[in-house]
Amino acid sequence: MLRAAELSSLEGRPAAIGAFNVNFYSQAEGILEGLRRAEAPGILQASRGANKFQGGPENIAEMVLAAVRKSGHSLPVCLHLDHGDEPAARECIDRGFGSVMLDVSKLEYDANIAAVRNVVQLAHPKGISVEAELGHLAGVEEDVSSATTTYADPYLVPNFFDKSGCDSLAIAYGTSHGPDKGAGLEKLAVHIVEKCYRGMAAFGQNESRFLVSHGSSTVPQELVKEINSFGGKMKDARGIPMDRIQAAIGAGIRKINIDTDLRLGITATFRRYLAEHPGVERGSAELAGIWKALDGSPAAVDPRDYLGHIGRALLRRDPRGTALEEPMRLVRERVAAHVERLCREFGSAGLAPRVEGHSFDTMASVYLR
Ligand code: G3H
Ligand code: 13P
Ligand code: ZN
Repeated sequence: MLRAAELSSLEGRPAAIGAFNVNFYSQAEGILEGLRRAEAPGILQASRGANKFQGGPENIAEMVLAAVRKSGHSLPVCLHLDHGDEPAARECIDRGFGSVMLDVSKLEYDANIAAVRNVVQLAHPKGISVEAELGHLAGVEEDVSSATTTYADPYLVPNFFDKSGCDSLAIAYGTSHGPDKGAGLEKLAVHIVEKCYRGMAAFGQNESRFLVSHGSSTVPQELVKEINSFGGKMKDARGIPMDRIQAAIGAGIRKINIDTDLRLGITATFRRYLAEHPGVERGSAELAGIWKALDGSPAAVDPRDYLGHIGRALLRRDPRGTALEEPMRLVRERVAAHVERLCREFGSAGLAPRVEGHSFDTMASVYLR
């Protein structure tokens, strides 16, 4: 498998693997297509919310595996649990995931280590890798909102890896979840990443362990404009500038989490589609539920809030399901284009042939064991 050390020494330019959140089938297809276009290894990750939306981790695993098989995807991909707790991690370990995150950074340091170590003991014998978290990110995460960032303490990182046995560590350094990263941007502290990585290097941990950047979406302004030009009301949307992400990769980040960017692309696609198609216009009674969901919550960019309504309304118009084909094709294309672009920016494009990993069929992780 591709080792952390290789990612940091490719043609003198460090690289990171993209980890893309997945909630539904066409999104999985789009991510895989983007990885193929970039010839990149990649991670598809499902949060507890995603597992719930699809009715359990076994359904997510089946869904991603079906997308892998249908597209003949032969590049290394990993299915990862994003922001898990212990019950979710146990379930995913038993249901075919290749990697799990235990996000218990709200616990005291020693309790965090102990909880992670328990999961490592369950996961490693099955060849499953474990991500943990140190510090607190600002923003919304699994419905819990926090206004402030508590940076990871770099001096604790080698000890955390050593004591917990985890394979990768998400470190809080000023990024935040969701479409508005504005407040945190002044506090973005790439030097925290650098210090964490140096500490790992001093203990030889950088050869086999990873640092992870959560909350890393770039929030393309053209997507925000498109959403707003088709009835959205997004304000204060600001992502992490790509040069900052690349600086963080240069400083030692090896896995980059992206969810919001894909949500924005999917939402822009549906808003445009609904606005441009006669018969599915705003006034239509059968689509009232869709617009209510789209205009409901403040950001209104989570496809899980409106996909059910869209599916039901379009299927009512066309029970054979062909009405959904065109918007879903557009979604796949939108997701694929963004994933491909990000892989090129992250430096993971072209790396797939160098990974001695396996396809998802064998459930091996592309990013460590
Ligand atoms: O950390 C947050 C990720 O974007 C996943 O979000 O828990 O709403 O699926 P979610
Ligand atoms: P974004 O909200 O910036 O896409 O962050 C995603 C993430 O960290 C998923 O764990
Ligand atoms: Zn996250």
